[in-house]
Amino acid sequence: MDNFVNATYIVSGLLFIFALAGLSRFETSKRGVAFGILGMVLALTATIASVISPETGEGLDSLGLILLVGAVGIGAVIGVRKALTVEMTGMPELIALLHSFVGLAAVLVGYNSWLEGSHDKFHLAEVYFGIFIGAVTFTGSIVAWGKLSERLPSRPLVLPFRHWMNLAALLLIVGMAFWFVPTRSIIPLIIMTILSLLLGIHLVAAIGGADMPVVISMLNSYSGWAAAFSGFMLGSEVLIVTGALVGASGAILSYIMCRAMNRSFISVILGGFGDSGLVACAVDQGEYREYSTAEVAAELMEARSVIIVPGYGMAVAQAQYPVAELTRALEAHHKHVRFAIHPVAGRLPGHMNVLLAEANVPYDIVLEMDEINEDFPETDVVLVIGANDTVNPSAMEPGTPISGMPVLHAWESRQVVVFKRSMNPGYAGVENPLFFKENTAMCFGDAKASVQAILASLPVGEAVRA
Ligand code: TAP
Repeated sequence: MDNFVNATYIVSGLLFIFALAGLSRFETSKRGVAFGILGMVLALTATIASVISPETGEGLDSLGLILLVGAVGIGAVIGVRKALTVEMTGMPELIALLHSFVGLAAVLVGYNSWLEGSHDKFHLAEVYFGIFIGAVTFTGSIVAWGKLSERLPSRPLVLPFRHWMNLAALLLIVGMAFWFVPTRSIIPLIIMTILSLLLGIHLVAAIGGADMPVVISMLNSYSGWAAAFSGFMLGSEVLIVTGALVGASGAILSYIMCRAMNRSFISVILGGFGDSGLVACAVDQGEYREYSTAEVAAELMEARSVIIVPGYGMAVAQAQYPVAELTRALEAHHKHVRFAIHPVAGRLPGHMNVLLAEANVPYDIVLEMDEINEDFPETDVVLVIGANDTVNPSAMEPGTPISGMPVLHAWESRQVVVFKRSMNPGYAGVENPLFFKENTAMCFGDAKASVQAILASLPVGEAVRA
C-alpha cells in the first residue's frame, strides 16, 4: 500500500507542476486546470486509501470512517455549490475565504500534533512555526475577505507606532519559540497563537485599497507555506510539495505584481508605508463633457484606430459580450481595434483576460500595458469601459494612494470616452482628472446597456459581418 501511495503522490506532484505551467498562458490554461483537478483527485484518493488500509493493518474504525466520508462529502457539496454560484467579481473574496480555511487547518493540525505528545525538538519547532503562519494567514485572509466584499472599509487602518507594534509582536513570537521548544509548555504556544492572530488582522487592515491585489497573492503564498508546515507535521510529502508550490508561486506572483505597480514588496507586506491616505480631490477639476451613445457611435465611425480599456465595471456589468460584438462590428468597418490590459485591472490577476477570452475576443488583439502604452498618441478613440484607477493620471503625481503605480496613458489619444454610471472614484478612492480633460467625454449608464446601444446605433452596412 505504501508504494502505491508514494507513487500516486509523486504523480500528483508532477500534475500540480504541469497545472502551474498550463496556467501561465491563456491558450493552455484549461489544460492546466484539468491537470490540477486530476492531481487533486489522485492525492485525495491516495490519502484516503492510506488511512483506511494503512501498512500497519490498523485501519480506521467505523466512527473514523463515517467522520472521513462525512467531512469529504460536506466539503464537496459546499465546494461545488460555491463554484457554481460564485460570480467572477466575487472570486477574490472567495479565494481569500479559502485561504483562511488553509490557515485555520494549519493551526488545528499544529495543536493536534502538540496533543500527540512528541518531545522531538525539531517537530516542536515545526508545530510552533506552522501554527504561527497558519494563524497569520487565517485572520489576515478574513480581513482581506471583509475588505474585498466591502464588509470592512478598504481604507488602510493607520494606528500610531504600527510598524513598532508589528516588530515587537514578531520579536516576542520568535523569542517565545525558545521557551516553547525546550519545554513543550502550552503557555507560550497559546500566547504566540493570540499574537499571530492579532498580527494577521493588523498586517492586512493596514494595507490600503490600491495594494490589495498584492495582499491577495501574498496570502495565497502564506497559505501555501502553512500547508507545507502542516505537511511536515503530518509527515505528508504530497502536502509539503503542494504547499511549497503554492507558497513559491504566490511569492513570485506577489513580486511580479509589486513590480507592475511600482511598489516595494517589503512596504506592501508591512502595510501603509508611503501611503499617505490622501485623496486627490481637493482641487476643483472643472467641467466634464457628456456624450450620448449615438455620439459615441458617430465618433467611432470617424476613427481609424480604437483602443478599448476594460476595468472592474466591465466585469460588474458583464459587458464583455457586447464589447466583443462591438469589436467585431468595428473591425468589419475596417477599424483597427485593440485592448489595453492593466496588470491590476479588475479584482484579481488576469480578470480582464478571462472575461475577454470568455467572450471569444482573439488573444492577439489583447495587449498588456507595456506592449500598448506608447500607442495612445497615435490612437483616435479610446473607450474606457468601467476602468478608473488604472487610467488615472494622478498616479503620476505624488500624494495619492496610487502614486507611483504605472497607468494606461489613455489621455494621450485624440478622444477618450469613459463608460461609468456616475462621477464616483474607483477602488482606491482617488478622484480621476482624466474625466475632466478636454479630450474626454463621459458616457453615463450601465456599461452593458451603453455598449448595446452603441451597437444599435452603428450603421449596418455590407461591411458588417458580425
Ligand atoms: P476601478 O478603479 O475599481 O473602477 C471601476 C469603475 O467601474 C468604477 O469607477 C465604477 O464607476 C465603474 N462601474 C462599476 N459598475 C459599473 C457598471 N455596471 N457599468 C459601468 N461602470 C461601472 O477599476 P479598475 O480601473 O479596473 O482598477 C482596479 C482597482 O482595483 C485598482 O485600484 C486595483 O488596485 C484594485 N484591485 C485590483 C485587484 C487585482 S488583482 N486586479 C484586486 C483587488 C483590488 P461607477 O460606480 O460610477 O459606475
